[in-house]
Amino acid sequence: MEYYHLPVVHPKLTHVSRMNDHHRCQGKGMYSGMLTTPVSRDVDSVWLNLPATKGIEKKHLETAYHICIFPNVTITILQNHAFCMITDPIRANKTRERNFLLTPPLTQENGMQSSMFLKLIKFWEIINTQDLVIVERVQEGLSNIAFTGGRMCFKFEEPLHRYQNWIADKMCNIHRVHPGDHEK
Ligand SMILES: [Fe+2]
Repeated sequence: MEYYHLPVVHPKLTHVSRMNDHHRCQGKGMYSGMLTTPVSRDVDSVWLNLPATKGIEKKHLETAYHICIFPNVTITILQNHAFCMITDPIRANKTRERNFLLTPPLTQENGMQSSMFLKLIKFWEIINTQDLVIVERVQEGLSNIAFTGGRMCFKFEEPLHRYQNWIADKMCNIHRVHPGDHEK
């Protein structure tokens, strides 16, 4: 839900999703949203190699939408595929992740596209494994009693703040739908 970890954790991802091309895209609702536009066309990247979904509007062709739906669904949607992650809490120190890579119908009927699809799976697997490592390290750090909390950075961590408020609301039995950026 923040993108300042990209250069350190996912150097390859910044070839297609550059730091400066990230923007908030936050409306009213129980989700946090940002986007990357334009998505860069890097020769080593497989993000844009599959054909775009038929009938897609022009404004969506160069954009990747990153959405986190409360409480446990995150999805990145591009013109030609979507990567979805569902996290299931198992116990306090264990979470199960389920990942789905979605493509338009018939994408895998064509042999060339089928091999692009496999490369795309590999790409997301690398990105996701990098995230797993960093998330586990954060968990380990947070469980150290020497850590007593810290400040958040509005520019980068507002979506995290939004998420933490959802959790706090649920724990306090408060039913509140958070406003979007244009409604504050
Ligand atoms: Fe990440």
